Amino acid sequence: MLKRTVYCGELRAAHEGREVVLCGWVHKTRDMGHLVFVDLRDREGLAQIVFQSDRPELVEEAKRLRNEFVVGVRGRVRRRSAANKDIPTGEVEVEAFELRIFAASKVPPFVIADPPQASEELRLKYRYLDLRRPKMQRHIRLRHEASLAVRNYMSRNGFLEIETPIMANPTPEGARDYLVPSRIYKGRFYALPQSPQQFKQTLMISGFDRYFQIVRCFRDEDLRADRQPEFTQIDIEMSFIEREEFFALNEGLMEAVFALTGRKLARPFPRLPYAEAMEKYGSDKPDLRVPLEIRDLTAIGRDGSSDVLKAAIAAGGELKGLLVPGAGTLSRGQLDKLGDKAKALGAKGLVWIKKQDGWKSSLKLADADFEKIWAALGGADADLALLVADKKATALKALGEIRRTWPMEESARRGRLEFCWVTDFPLFEWSEEEKRFVSMHHPFTSPHEDDMGLLETSPGKVRAKAYDLILNGVEVGGGSIRIHDMDLQRRVFRSLGLTDSETEEKFGYFLEALSFGAPPHGGIAFGFDRLVMLLAGEESIREVIPFPKTTSALDLMTGSPSAVSDRQLDDLGLKLK
Ligand code: AMO
Repeated sequence: MLKRTVYCGELRAAHEGREVVLCGWVHKTRDMGHLVFVDLRDREGLAQIVFQSDRPELVEEAKRLRNEFVVGVRGRVRRRSAANKDIPTGEVEVEAFELRIFAASKVPPFVIADPPQASEELRLKYRYLDLRRPKMQRHIRLRHEASLAVRNYMSRNGFLEIETPIMANPTPEGARDYLVPSRIYKGRFYALPQSPQQFKQTLMISGFDRYFQIVRCFRDEDLRADRQPEFTQIDIEMSFIEREEFFALNEGLMEAVFALTGRKLARPFPRLPYAEAMEKYGSDKPDLRVPLEIRDLTAIGRDGSSDVLKAAIAAGGELKGLLVPGAGTLSRGQLDKLGDKAKALGAKGLVWIKKQDGWKSSLKLADADFEKIWAALGGADADLALLVADKKATALKALGEIRRTWPMEESARRGRLEFCWVTDFPLFEWSEEEKRFVSMHHPFTSPHEDDMGLLETSPGKVRAKAYDLILNGVEVGGGSIRIHDMDLQRRVFRSLGLTDSETEEKFGYFLEALSFGAPPHGGIAFGFDRLVMLLAGEESIREVIPFPKTTSALDLMTGSPSAVSDRQLDDLGLKLK
């Protein structure tokens, strides 16, 4: 048996003269007739192997090698006549004197190389081959290192990792649950947890004080680049918690994680109340790398010369403006495209203003109005102002999205890490679909002390002790200070339109637990996949998950989800409609 003595990717000049055994996959072969070169790949990298003419049988054997064959090679390390500076092992090569072919390989459906040379669909179907790419190997290793860094940091800070059930109870609304039918209790279901929220709060009631878990969560929701039906959270809960102390602890966690790629973070992270984030950035997850801010121009519009703006404001709307420095050179065509974008986001229109040889604008306004708008936005001659007069939420959304997607020099984004805490979210938001208030985070989030009186009278105005952690416009974590008083928890359930008996049925155990001495507590959960994605500089979490699903929730490699036999359904007491 050829037993590996060193990884291909670890070979260095220091190994010169040594006999080594390498094991790995054939990455590339070059047949020069009397001599054959093979690049051998393992998880650590590539090494060059030479089969030489003084061993003719070996050369013949080496000529049989094809890409992705698995082989073992014994040989001696020597310096290359010309070093390859592109790879870390490039100073040396291995002169082979023994070759063992462990396994042949069919011709792979794509070349295993970075950047990938196949569609994502093909890559996911043959994920086991795609994962052989050096970049994927690096990502999966980074994921391992990140989870170690998290565990070490949390443990150092007195947190215990505690497991919670994967076969859990369906959530009260049931939306987005993956259900697991019970065979023993026909007609009854477990659900895969959307998060361990109630269990971790229960652990606080049990006195564990500081809990964390790197845990799989399941949500049957619309998928995107940063969402998967099963994903991993770093879930954290802590008793006797002070918000500032807790923020500092989490910032330390981010520091520990980003140190893996040699990054230093500026602390403390900025804090931004939800209302301010919406006003300035039109988003509750602002990308602070984009140096643009929305301003309110309603007063100027109301007192100004344009009937269009006045009418929009009189109808309850507001006038919002965004200044884009240096964008005065945009063409009509480009401005029309921005207008279309604003309309697609629900705005009735987009006004643009430039200051070039006098005022140029898509809307007729008195010069005095242009002057006022320009002064309010801090405009200069080369700049462009974009305005939307509409319902406040619509105007902010349209300008917020234009701001978020404004094309920036790659160099202005690259390598930057802009964290911020968004705080003081509304406790509830109105659901048009359900015609009732629903929790913006979840129903266990504590209302702000100052707003307790509004719970029954103006639920829409109650602020929550909730916070999200945003990094470069991505929500990497979210959490809150919880309700630890049973009566307050009941009031919140009532505000959500639940009757006491519904509450009892759905949350009975938890409400009772709250009445047996629940400490003040709070917590957060980070999207671990999203963190690793940002750590790796990727744009999709699928790049850092070994076996992800597609955006239509399919596993293209195994073919799940799949049909099951009637017999299996029968055992579970189920019948398909
Ligand atoms: P929340 O629902 O905000 O909070 O989730 C916490 C974080 O998990 C990540 N995340 C996801 N990542 C990938 N795919 C998904 N489908 C997905 N959904 C969420 C996000 C998000 O910020 N129990 C609460 C936390 C708490 O209050 O402590 C919770 O789950 O990064």
